[in-house]
Amino acid sequence: MGYERISDANEITARYMDSILIEERLIDSVVASTKTEFFGTEFDSPVMTPAFSHLGKYGDRQLTGLEEYSIAAKELNILNFVGMTENDWFRKVIDTGAKTVRIVKPYADHGKVIDQMKYAEAAGAFGIGMDIDHIFGENGLDVVIGEEMAEQTSEMLREYVELTSLPFVVKGVLSVADAVKCADIGAKAIIVSHHHGRLPYAVPPMMVLPKIKEALKGRDVKIIVDCGIASGADVYKALALGADAAAVGRSMLPSLEADAAEGVRGFIGHVTNELRFIMSCTGFATVREIDDSCIYVKAG
Ligand SMILES: Cc1cc2nc3c(=O)[nH]c(=O)nc-3n(C[C@H](O)[C@H](O)[C@H](O)COP(=O)(O)O)c2cc1C
Repeated sequence: MGYERISDANEITARYMDSILIEERLIDSVVASTKTEFFGTEFDSPVMTPAFSHLGKYGDRQLTGLEEYSIAAKELNILNFVGMTENDWFRKVIDTGAKTVRIVKPYADHGKVIDQMKYAEAAGAFGIGMDIDHIFGENGLDVVIGEEMAEQTSEMLREYVELTSLPFVVKGVLSVADAVKCADIGAKAIIVSHHHGRLPYAVPPMMVLPKIKEALKGRDVKIIVDCGIASGADVYKALALGADAAAVGRSMLPSLEADAAEGVRGFIGHVTNELRFIMSCTGFATVREIDDSCIYVKAG
């Protein structure tokens, strides 16, 4: 055998992440601040929770996993996300008081899409959106937990944007082409993501980010990134390469499972502290200032 072939996008993404290196700029640097503005609101960190679905109760605990990590998001004053849920579960998340963006699935049942978005707005969501990377499956259109998905056109996405006064977020953007379409239909943020490796050989979000950043210059669209974000160094690299914020994903699950909201608070708190340390060591006093001037991509 000549060489080992790797189609798993999670592994490709991890390898690319680890090829990105950081230089130091210590003289005249100060302790950095991780405060971040997002949709006109100030948050304490650009680290966000992931849009997760169906995290039920762990053991004999009182609250669902979705509520537990949402409580951590509120306590940390960071932006919270939730994925595929029915309205009653979404209500529980909102009742934690976390500022939450609801990511609705691209259901074939168009009425359900509209209902969930309207419900989210009425319940007090911070934003709404859709994960477009769950439209297709290997048998054609995807079926998620028994529910059929549907193709989504630019016109449909524009309809969702116009349905609400909340910021609309498109999750699962992995190309300049889709990013520009999101800007054109009036989305206020995109999440650059391959949804933990749905697409074989998916380009690492970190690799496509600089091109997307360039394409969206002056378009008033925030860029969030996820997939394989597990440390402050990962968040720093994301911000340096063009993101405004980054979401942890499965990296948060062991802390959630072990110690509920407190575990997530500890984990994301640690990620934020490491981000602040690296910002301080590279001469960026604020999140807004971070650019790619301290970044090296190792060849090979
Ligand atoms: C248990 C679980 C449930 C998820 N549910 C959703 C969902 O309902 N909607 C969505 O957009 N993404 C969902 N995701 C994907 C995450 O939001 C995120 O894109 C992904 O986990 C990032 O990759 P990472 O885990 O490698 O960080 C889910 C992921 C996991 C592990």
